[in-house]
Amino acid sequence: VAQRAHSRAAAPMVARASRRSLRCEARKVALLGAAGGIGQPLALLLKMNKFVTELALYDIVGTPGVAADLSHCNTPVKVTAFSGAEELDACLSGADLVIIPAGVPRKPGMTRDDLFNTNAGIVQNLVRAAGKNCPQAVLEIITNPVNSTVPIAAETLKAMGVYDPKKVIGVTTLDIVRSNTFVAEARGLDMKDVDVPVIGGHAGATILPLLSQATPAVTFTDAEKAAMSEKIQNAGTVVVEAKAGKGSATLSMAYAAARMAESTLLGLNGEPNIYECAFVQSEVVADVPFFASKVLLGPHGVAKVMGLGELDAFETAALQAMLPQLKTEIQKGLDFAKANT
Ligand code: NAD
Ligand code: LMR
Repeated sequence: VAQRAHSRAAAPMVARASRRSLRCEARKVALLGAAGGIGQPLALLLKMNKFVTELALYDIVGTPGVAADLSHCNTPVKVTAFSGAEELDACLSGADLVIIPAGVPRKPGMTRDDLFNTNAGIVQNLVRAAGKNCPQAVLEIITNPVNSTVPIAAETLKAMGVYDPKKVIGVTTLDIVRSNTFVAEARGLDMKDVDVPVIGGHAGATILPLLSQATPAVTFTDAEKAAMSEKIQNAGTVVVEAKAGKGSATLSMAYAAARMAESTLLGLNGEPNIYECAFVQSEVVADVPFFASKVLLGPHGVAKVMGLGELDAFETAALQAMLPQLKTEIQKGLDFAKANT
C-alpha cells in the first residue's frame, strides 16, 4: 500500500479503488460551487467514487439541473441539490468532507491575487457556514488565491472556536498532477510511475516542484530545472490564456480535486500510508504559518505534516526567493479574516 500511496499520480480512481476491498464508511461530501466549471466535472467524478455515499451539491444557482442530470448515472452515490443561501445549512449538515471551488476564476492578464477582493468574502461566508453546521468536517479549499483563502478559513474558524488545523486543507494537487505529466513527457516515462512533490504555495514563484525528489529519479541540468519549474509555475496561466476569457483550468482541476478527495476519504476510513502534497498550517519553514508540503492523511484529516526532505541548491535558492511573496499573501488572508470577524 505504501508504494501505491506514494505513486497515486495517474492511477484511475475507480480502478485503483477496486483493486482490493478497502473499508467503506458512509461518507457525505458537500461540494460548494457545484454548478461551476470545476464543480460540474468534479461532481461527476465524485458520483463515480465508491467511497462517497452522499454528494450534496450547493451553488447560488443551477444545482437542481446538475443533480437531476447526475442522478441518472447508475452508481450508488445519492445526489442532493441545494440552491441559495437559505439552503446552505442543510447542504452542510452531517458532511464529512466539504470541497470549495466557489468563486470567480482568472481572465487573461490577471494574477490569482487579483481574485482576492471577490473570493475572500465568498470563501469566508461558506467556511463560516461549515464551521456552524459541520465543524468536524475536513475542508478542502480550491478557490483562489489559495495562499490567502486557506488562512482566511483558518482564522474564521478560529474566531468561531472550532478551528482544527488538521481539517483545513488548501488543494494544490493540480501542481503535482502537472509536474508528473510534464516530467513524464520530458523523460519518456510512464505517467503512472511518476511522482513529483511540489511545495510552497499555489501562485507563481510560490509553486516549487522538487525535481530532485522525483520518483523515479530524473536528472536535469540547471537550465532544464529552471525551464521545467517555470513551465509548472505557468501552467495555470497557459490554460487561462488558451481559454481566452472563458475561465481557468476546470477539467484537470476536477481530476486533481477528485484525487485529493479520494485520498482524504481513504485517510478518514483508516487506510494507512496515504500521502498528498497540500497547503496546510505548518511549521516546516520558520515564520511561514501555512505551507504546502507532503502530508500524511489519516482518520482526522492531516495526521502529519512531513518535512521537506533534502533540497538541492536550485530548490534552496527558489525557496528563499519565494518566501516574501508567500508570507505577504498569507498575511493578507489573515488580516482580511481578522477585519471581518
Ligand atoms: P466558475 O465561475 O466556472 O464556477 C464557480 C462557481 O462558484 C459558479 O457556479 C458560481 O455560481 C459559484 N459561486 C459563486 N459565488 C458563490 C457562493 N457565494 N456560494 C456558492 N457558490 C458560488 O469558476 P471555476 O472555473 O469553477 O473556478 C472556481 C475557483 O477555483 C476560482 O477561484 C479559480 O481560480 C479556482 N481554481 C483553483 C485551482 C487550484 O489549483 N486550487 C485550479 C483551478 C481553479
Ligand atoms: C491553476 O493553477 O490552474 C488555477 O490556480 C487557476 C489559475 O488561475 O491559474
